[in-house]
Amino acid sequence: MSSRFYITTPIYYVNAEPHLGHAYSTVVADVQNRFHKLIGDETFFLTGTDEHGDKIVQAAEKLGISPREYTDRISDKFRQTWPLLEIEPDRFIRTTDPEHMKTVQLALQKVYDKGDIEFREYEGLYCFGCERFLVERELVDGKCPDHKTEPTHLKEKNYFFLMSKYQDWLIDYIKANPDFITPERYRNEVLAFLKDPLDDLCISRPISRLTWGVPLPFDENFVTYVWFDALINYLTGLDYPNGDRFERFWPAANHVIAKDILKPHGIYWPIMLKALGLEPYKALHVHGYWKTKDVKMSKSLGNIVKPQWLVDQFGADGTRYCLMREMVFGLDAGFSQESFVLRINADLANDLGNLLSRSLTMLFKYKKGAIPSFHDLDGPHRELTAAWKELVPVWKKEMEAFRINKALAQIWKVLNVANKVIDKSAPWELARDESKQALLDSVLYSLMETLRLAAVLISPVMPEAAGRILTSLGLDPDKELSSKGLEPGRLASGTQAKKIKALFPRIGPSKKQAKAEKAKKQQQKKAVKEKKTIEDNLITIDDFQKVELRVGEIVGAEKHPNADRLLKLTVMAPEERTIVAGIAEHFKPEELVGRKVIIVANLKPVKLRGVESRGMLLVAKDKGGLHLLSVPDETEPGSRIS
Ligand code: ME8
Repeated sequence: MSSRFYITTPIYYVNAEPHLGHAYSTVVADVQNRFHKLIGDETFFLTGTDEHGDKIVQAAEKLGISPREYTDRISDKFRQTWPLLEIEPDRFIRTTDPEHMKTVQLALQKVYDKGDIEFREYEGLYCFGCERFLVERELVDGKCPDHKTEPTHLKEKNYFFLMSKYQDWLIDYIKANPDFITPERYRNEVLAFLKDPLDDLCISRPISRLTWGVPLPFDENFVTYVWFDALINYLTGLDYPNGDRFERFWPAANHVIAKDILKPHGIYWPIMLKALGLEPYKALHVHGYWKTKDVKMSKSLGNIVKPQWLVDQFGADGTRYCLMREMVFGLDAGFSQESFVLRINADLANDLGNLLSRSLTMLFKYKKGAIPSFHDLDGPHRELTAAWKELVPVWKKEMEAFRINKALAQIWKVLNVANKVIDKSAPWELARDESKQALLDSVLYSLMETLRLAAVLISPVMPEAAGRILTSLGLDPDKELSSKGLEPGRLASGTQAKKIKALFPRIGPSKKQAKAEKAKKQQQKKAVKEKKTIEDNLITIDDFQKVELRVGEIVGAEKHPNADRLLKLTVMAPEERTIVAGIAEHFKPEELVGRKVIIVANLKPVKLRGVESRGMLLVAKDKGGLHLLSVPDETEPGSRIS
């Protein structure tokens, strides 16, 4: 039976550009929208931008442009970003749209006429970050717990929405409807908030302080502020009050948000709807934060990851898959490029991509690409046919409950079975055996049908890859991506498959990583080489003992008759010997006589320019030149040095 499904994202503030956090909520909404379409529901998907308030005026002033110019610019960035990620909303709403402003005024008038809005003087602590008055008990060390700033003391007359009147009703409603706020931890958090008496909500700002907002229909000196304006977008999106869409889709509304805006959505919004005489939305789906290095990703902290960068690195499908697979809906998740690369290589390139390419290769090799018939035979492939039937209802249940990561994990379980079936059944062996042809057909059929079904089930998350798989199986994606496509065993034999390029090429390390890796390897090589040289040059004590060092006394020195650089020395060590040394540029013969030096005594004699030399003098060499190594004067000539 077809039902109606209305899905929304928060409307994002235009005080900064879109990042991974916004992308996540919007991809979740798109995945849910595609999923509900797939199972045959009538759907409507709304996203947009929130454009009124102090923060926006300040951001525009910083750039020296008008709020209108500024909001046009940033809103457009959000609008242009979503197609990059294959996000296809049915409507993109802006709170500065005249229709929206009219709807806000209509809603305000209704609630005012009902007596739920009151004008009174208010004196209190205002947080400019939260754009609302805080009460004493919300402060931590005198500061706003979210913005870590001290609130400003303000006193002014304003309009208040009397929320406290509906507090008991809301508590009862949440208790009676366990799926109203999910996951359960956030339902409990809202119920915990509601244990304390609710403060009435200040919904106006005097135009003396702010003009960038929707004028109150009952007092031209004020504009409405933030939440009353923003939350109403979910009604404007359906052309409330008289639109046909509103008729069809309210109250089938599913709001996706992160936990930062739980209070306005879990408390203000249902109470506003009640005051308007409307039914509450169907469900609020609350997710956690994407963090980098344990810190929430946010524009104010400057640690954001841009959607365009994600798409450049991982592709649109790859990004969507990783976002959905890496975050448990409701809990925080850490973003890292490495974990996304690992996911893509393991799950998409390997498990899914290889299964497709291996299966297609065999189909073409053994069956010329035609899908064979399935025979009711025993074999490893039985595991697959059993798995299909269980998979669809489990996947559906997880998807309906927004546990998209689990739904994907279920699909991957079956892909892994399929990869094992190939190894266990060894089609290449069956192909050689004439009597095993029916079994070969059944194995190949099960593999192709697994791929078809997997393509349909992954299509909400990876629409592009799903289309390519289906096309490669010779099917029409438009026909297959419908509730009919969810019936296992529907692949018709005889269908002619097509070869395709790799579904998800493996991602190598990034350029920066590759460079760092190369530098590291070179460093390691160098270190190994240096160590080796040192080792090669090491000598043993025996090597050293071969060298006979002795003390020698220079008793005579003169210039070499045939060479300017050489001196001819007479040395006692203890017997007399001649040593020719290349030290004429550093020493005069007369300064050498009488010096006790160290000589290598056991060198083979050599003739140097006609004079026989027996031994060598030891010198130290530095920038200043040569220094003779000598020993204390009292040392006996000829003493062995050891
Ligand atoms: O609050 N991790 O707008 P906003 C996950 N205009 N999600 C994140 C995130 C993160 N690190 N950072 C942002 C507003 N988000 C109001 C909403 S609705 C009637 C008005 C996502 O631009 C997440 O969906 O601050 C969060 O709730 C939203 O952006 C806040 O967007």
